[in-house]
Amino acid sequence: MEEFDVVVIGSGPGGYVAAIRAAQLGLKTACIEKDAPLGGTCLNVGCIPSKTLLHASEEYWKFRTKGQELGLLFQGISFDWSIMQKKRSSVISGFNQGIDWLFKKNKITRFLGTGSLVSPQEIAIRKGEETSTIRAKNIILATGSEPIPLPFLPFDEKIVLSSTGALALEHVPKTLIVIGAGVIGVELGSVYARLGSKVQFIEFLDRICPTMDEMVSREFEVILQTLGLQFALSSKVTGATIAEGNIQLDVEDQKSKEKRTYAAEAVLVCIGRRPFAKGLNLEKVGIAMTPKGQVAVDNLFRTSKPNIYAIGDLIDGPMLAHKASEEGVAVAEIIAGHQPVIDYVAIPNVIYTSPEVAAVGMTEAEAKNFNLKVKTGIFYFKANSRARCIGEEEGFVKIIAHADTDRLLGIHIVGCHASEMIASCAVAIHKKMTALELANLAFAHPTLSEAIKEAALAVHKRTIHS
Ligand code: FAD
Ligand code: NAI
Repeated sequence: MEEFDVVVIGSGPGGYVAAIRAAQLGLKTACIEKDAPLGGTCLNVGCIPSKTLLHASEEYWKFRTKGQELGLLFQGISFDWSIMQKKRSSVISGFNQGIDWLFKKNKITRFLGTGSLVSPQEIAIRKGEETSTIRAKNIILATGSEPIPLPFLPFDEKIVLSSTGALALEHVPKTLIVIGAGVIGVELGSVYARLGSKVQFIEFLDRICPTMDEMVSREFEVILQTLGLQFALSSKVTGATIAEGNIQLDVEDQKSKEKRTYAAEAVLVCIGRRPFAKGLNLEKVGIAMTPKGQVAVDNLFRTSKPNIYAIGDLIDGPMLAHKASEEGVAVAEIIAGHQPVIDYVAIPNVIYTSPEVAAVGMTEAEAKNFNLKVKTGIFYFKANSRARCIGEEEGFVKIIAHADTDRLLGIHIVGCHASEMIASCAVAIHKKMTALELANLAFAHPTLSEAIKEAALAVHKRTIHS
């Protein structure tokens, strides 16, 4: 039976990165993936396809709505959904081949099949009727997550869509209902709204993207409404009827108890994701789980079996590709005897809408929950010269600092290119900078990033441009 130093189960951004790092460190490494293409959720049905469609639809929408303001006059502008879909597929397959190439370059053995633990050192690989078994000194579980369905509304990927189905629709629906105004909802809802769909959200809580800073979430909602997205907040779906290629939802307002119905060609259910451990046979080997259904790990990513590790969406923490990859690198280094440290506080998160939303560190409410005394600084992009030049004046930067020490606690951006700007903010949070230290840095002029400096100045009531 072939034996490896490290066997990774799952080839998402956690698993494939762990495999590459382990191989770089001289460990004999294999990766088992049940699906033919490598790359997991992120590459095949997540980050990459969604960002490809977000970009194409944003360009189309901006040409139509903002071109004239800049003196760009287009006639007969239209889009071809099938070409957008081809672009999505070609970006994915390019990276599938890229990971394949990286595996070969790093001499990682790849197994196609479902990995299942037989013992803490043995893994069965099932492909159709065939099963083979390999041995591993160390095993890294990186099997990711899956979308949560509503119990009375199972996914059929035609009318009742998960994000996977919503990325690959045959045509742009005239009407779309989105249940859950979280990250997937606002991203994919934006794609279809820009291309002409009437998009109605039904959100259980009283604000969209409820894990974001409340001020951000409120401003974001107003901005998205101008794109035509409609939000029914504090609303609960109580029933559903599918007939003649349409879906009708019964919805109850949680505050007024008023009952309403919404109908559409399709419904996207995106109410969160849950860890995916099906088929791993964890119970048999005695791997402990958390009450939330995640694999329980210690601070070295060890499960209750010390040679079996788990990372990414399968364990606690934000379900983000870059978090999974950082953990992949860290766990490979731990197995090789190194002592890596991940700064979870400085992990940014981004929503790739227009404008984008990005954050690192705590929200104001989180800081207050920790009994921290806070002071805040806010600077609006409408007072930023670059934002005015490029017609991207929506949004703001909000900085939360400790009231006594001035240490940066959280930075939140709603604005164009927030996804790029947040990187410098993550450095500032990681380096434990104060708001004054950030304010005292020179930012190139004219740039959108100057709003970060001004927001830091605002913490000290010293803004120049507002
Ligand atoms: P996954 O990427 O889920 O990979 C797990 C892999 O394990 C899969 O390939 C699966 O087939 C395989 N597998 C499972 N069980 C077995 C088994 N028993 N044997 C063999 N193989 C198995 N995050 C971001 O940071 N930025 C984004 O822009 C972003 N956009 C997203 C958009 C959408 C629509 C979705 C759904 C998610 C998005 N995410 C984004 C989240 C991101 O995709 C996940 O956080 C990330 O993929 C988790 O990585 P992972 O390696 O833990 O697991
Ligand atoms: P989410 O947790 O972001 O949002 C789910 C939303 O659904 C919440 O607003 C919640 O209040 C609401 N909800 C829950 N149950 C409901 C119900 N029964 N009826 C109505 N609303 C309900 O989850 P989402 O959007 O499914 O995304 C899953 C995860 O994928 C994200 O948390 C994120 O980690 C990852 N992701 C990251 C992206 C990025 O980094 N840009 C993009 C897409 C996904």
